Amino acid sequence: MALAGVLFLVAAACHTPAKLQTDTGKPGDVLRIWAHSDIQPVDEKEFFHYETAIDDVVRNLPRIDLALIAGDIVYAKKDADRFYRWFLDTRAKARIPYWFEIAGNHEARDLGAYQRNIGKPLHYAVTVDNILIIMMSDEKRTPQSEISQATFEWWKGLVAANQDKILITVTHACLAGSGLASALFPTMRLASSGRFERALKEHPVDLWISGHNHLTSSIISKFSRPSAFPHTLFVEVASIHLTALSGIESYIFEFRDGSTDCLVLTRDHQSARFRPFREMTHRLRVPYRKGDGTPEILLPARHGMRGGVEP
Ligand SMILES: [Fe+2]
Repeated sequence: MALAGVLFLVAAACHTPAKLQTDTGKPGDVLRIWAHSDIQPVDEKEFFHYETAIDDVVRNLPRIDLALIAGDIVYAKKDADRFYRWFLDTRAKARIPYWFEIAGNHEARDLGAYQRNIGKPLHYAVTVDNILIIMMSDEKRTPQSEISQATFEWWKGLVAANQDKILITVTHACLAGSGLASALFPTMRLASSGRFERALKEHPVDLWISGHNHLTSSIISKFSRPSAFPHTLFVEVASIHLTALSGIESYIFEFRDGSTDCLVLTRDHQSARFRPFREMTHRLRVPYRKGDGTPEILLPARHGMRGGVEP
């Protein structure tokens, strides 16, 4: 993204407060999603990165309804089972009732270990209230997110058939046409993005969540709403892995009953604060309708979900 675009997004975000709606509103009216990615500790010495984030959630963000992880939970194939067990034990402390994950390029090094430990298919959809979340994993061990044509067709069918719902897509790399700075780098893009972009112009989604690029929000913008896709806010939720160029960051998405506004906040877990001027209010195509908040995983062939065939 050009510098002017980054500055515009920062300026456009200035009017929204860096605090949760539930601070002033009725908690029962709100659905809160915690999205993060790129945990991938290289060794035990890096465990504190994710543990810092979980501690912050436990102390300061107690009312999260569900968590989305946009890939790269572990770093290497070696000892993957041990690192997955650490991840599962650590996240349990947050007491978030529902977790949904995809495999990133690091999981793709050993998809058997990923599925054995996470216990979900590579691609699946989740319904919660009137929100449909479509989760698509990396299928190959390449820096780009490679998604098969069959999986693409499944996504396309779901998106076309569920335009009456709030739609969220989750992939590890970003769409080439997302307008995110990451899209400038071939290794950060979704392979064969053009097919998704053509479909998206006809049948938009409200939010597209990705990870993969660890650069902190202090360096590049993590939000984009390009003119080609005016209904879609692209949010890059990486990373929660700490380096010289990345903080321990994640994102909160808030939906309020009856409202078309979705509030997206950037959380800095090291300071236990939301980053000022790094939030967006995105206008959803349909208002959020609070239901019982119980998510259901749906696989099309088994559950008769509208649209597509199971990849
Ligand atoms: Fe990655």
